[in-house]
Amino acid sequence: MKFETDRPGSWQICITCGNEATELDPHPRCATCGGLLAVQHRPPDVTAAELIARFTERRGQRPGTTSSGVWRFREVVLPSATDVVSHPEGNTPLLHREGIDRWTGADRLLLKHEGHNPTGSFKDRGMTVGVTQARRIGARAVACASTGNTSASLAAYAAQAGLPALVLVPAEQVAIGKLAQTLAYGAKTLLVHGDFDACLRLVEDASERLGVYLLNSINPFRIEGQKTIVLELLQQLGWESPDWIALPAGNLGNTAAFGKALREAHALGLIDRVPRLLAVQAAGAAPFAAGFSDDFATRRRVRAETAATAIRIGDPASWDRAVDAIRFTKGHVVAVSDAEIFAAKRVVDSCGVGCEPASAASVAGVRTLVERGVIGRNERVVSVLTGHLLKDPDAALAARVAGGHGAEEPLTRDEALGHLERVLSSSSR
Ligand code: F0G
Repeated sequence: MKFETDRPGSWQICITCGNEATELDPHPRCATCGGLLAVQHRPPDVTAAELIARFTERRGQRPGTTSSGVWRFREVVLPSATDVVSHPEGNTPLLHREGIDRWTGADRLLLKHEGHNPTGSFKDRGMTVGVTQARRIGARAVACASTGNTSASLAAYAAQAGLPALVLVPAEQVAIGKLAQTLAYGAKTLLVHGDFDACLRLVEDASERLGVYLLNSINPFRIEGQKTIVLELLQQLGWESPDWIALPAGNLGNTAAFGKALREAHALGLIDRVPRLLAVQAAGAAPFAAGFSDDFATRRRVRAETAATAIRIGDPASWDRAVDAIRFTKGHVVAVSDAEIFAAKRVVDSCGVGCEPASAASVAGVRTLVERGVIGRNERVVSVLTGHLLKDPDAALAARVAGGHGAEEPLTRDEALGHLERVLSSSSR
């Protein structure tokens, strides 16, 4: 996809020491202090109303207009990119199901379903920008550590760009759908003894040593793409902010992206009120929730354990950026148990929507905060479902079997007919 533009108006800045780097600097962290980087753009030279009009026009999918839900917002994503690697991605729905309102206690909970992206998770929004940037800087290969979704997305976009992809995943902790995608799209995939946190440390070292472009969410260009989850949902709501946006939180890249998106949308005048972020962690992998309870006085690390493997992360890389996001939005961080995550997943699945386990944390977290009175029943809440149900088919089957819906044993024809009759008569009673 090609755009007309001649304005190189972006640069990178270290959020710790303020050191600046050019837009095309390939280092994943600040070369001076090792801090996290942020991409900054010169503000677009149009009014908020004109910017919104552009976004609206690009949303219409007339021939010749972009249908990417990321590049539609290119003035605030990467204005100088002219030749982008796009599937396209985004354009995900905002859904409402009464069964989920009943379960959470929220009056009208909306679900932003990022599982509708090309590889089935929100990672595609960051990856279209990250791989575009990899090509712009002339990277010889791209790499990431992953709990599965980042690697699936990296593999797909690298294949499209014609770049070799190197992936490190924790052995035996990656859902089968994600591993199948990563392999099928052709990434060189190494299963590593150890957890995600160990894989991330390893890939950071390896990419520096081998001169390979690192595309984990510490990469600030990934964050620029992931901002568009928030921009797109605000657009779908007519730029009227909800009261809360809830999301599952692991490595905290997405929490950071949401905070940056809201800060910028507010500064540009796209919204006049900033929604509160609710970051939800699994109780067995909840250093950020623990940090929230003492106003982030110290950085926490834990040994992570949860069946929601996507967020089985004990040492989140984007901690500092995410602290800023929670503070700026007067947000909240909460931990929910695996039992609560899987209860939420059963509700989301049985409404015909479906999501992977980690995604259901954002629904479980809303229920918890409504119960505690932190979220008012009639407040407007959007929960982000980050990944598709089929990412983790084992978890989906296990959840249904546990709920008494499983047909584990194969039946003969007569047994099957008898069984169906019993099911129908019990459900019509
Ligand atoms: N939900 C899903 C489905 C994920 O795959 C992830 C992260 C998260 C939530 C948490 O987002 O890390 O930005 O806080 N998955 C990464 C991966 C770690 O490797 O796919 P986060």
